Amino acid sequence: MYVRPVAAAAAAFLGFALVLAGGSAAPASAAPARGASAPVPATGRDPVRAAGVPEVYAHRGASAYAPENTLLAVDLAEELGFDWVENDVQRTKDGELVVVHDETLTRTTNVRTLFPDRGPWRVRDFTADEIARLDAGSWFGVEFAGARVPTLRQYLDRVRSNDQKLLLEIKKPELYPGIERDTLEVLEEAGWLGEEEVRDRLVVQSFSADCVRIVHAERPELVTAFLGTPPVADLPKYSAFADRINPWHATISAEWVAAVHAVTGVHGRPMQVDTWIVDDAALARKVQAMGVDGIITNAPDVIRQAVAGGV
Ligand code: G3P
Ligand code: CA
Repeated sequence: MYVRPVAAAAAAFLGFALVLAGGSAAPASAAPARGASAPVPATGRDPVRAAGVPEVYAHRGASAYAPENTLLAVDLAEELGFDWVENDVQRTKDGELVVVHDETLTRTTNVRTLFPDRGPWRVRDFTADEIARLDAGSWFGVEFAGARVPTLRQYLDRVRSNDQKLLLEIKKPELYPGIERDTLEVLEEAGWLGEEEVRDRLVVQSFSADCVRIVHAERPELVTAFLGTPPVADLPKYSAFADRINPWHATISAEWVAAVHAVTGVHGRPMQVDTWIVDDAALARKVQAMGVDGIITNAPDVIRQAVAGGV
């Protein structure tokens, strides 16, 4: 079996990206240092999953190896053979939807350097043009300098051109009134609400039940997920507007997962469970044994290898 170290894969990918950008490839020794150097089985795209093998979602892209929520992280997930990427959507001061996780820009960009007087550097206090100037790669590694915070439209176009699938999180919707409609509008404009996309390529999730409820009311055909671990007695309430319940791994048990599966979701199928953030092989096998349908991870290669044998 052909086995490729993830560091080599990431370095090869980075060289490719830099060639496209007109730069030079970083040496292999400068490959992403964050994350494991576990081998990556070359399983190719769209493997047929055996029963008991959870779907693997690349959380914020392949974010153990490339700066989170950037197009580089999307491309690296694709290079490593993963269809599903997860992201976080927020809104700028002038109404553009952008892909970034934190409420502020300080952790993942050079915003303090470019805009020293603009604290606390909240996403919603900056225009799209200002955010487009930020370096969203250097914090992760010098070899990623120049990566940008993508707009949602740029992100959607890249996921589509990579023939990938999207688990889209509407982040902190309470800060952005109307972000549900804004998000659906961009999805529509970008061609992400067609029959095939809705059936196979898109899931919209949020920690806010109200947000998921609004998305469902606006576009009832969409697959939706609530992020959290509701008590079993409350599950029927969520099934009125969601197909999935996506919990933090430390909050679940096999009994709870079975209880979710026993509830019929909003589209008439058993509700699913995709758990997060699982980057460790032993933990992946533990949640696999609990019966989860999917694992959302920063290190998708590690998790794919861990769960490949089924239960
Ligand atoms: O997809 C689940 C996960 O992304 C939720 O947590 O904080 O990483 O957005 P967070
Ligand atoms: Ca997220």
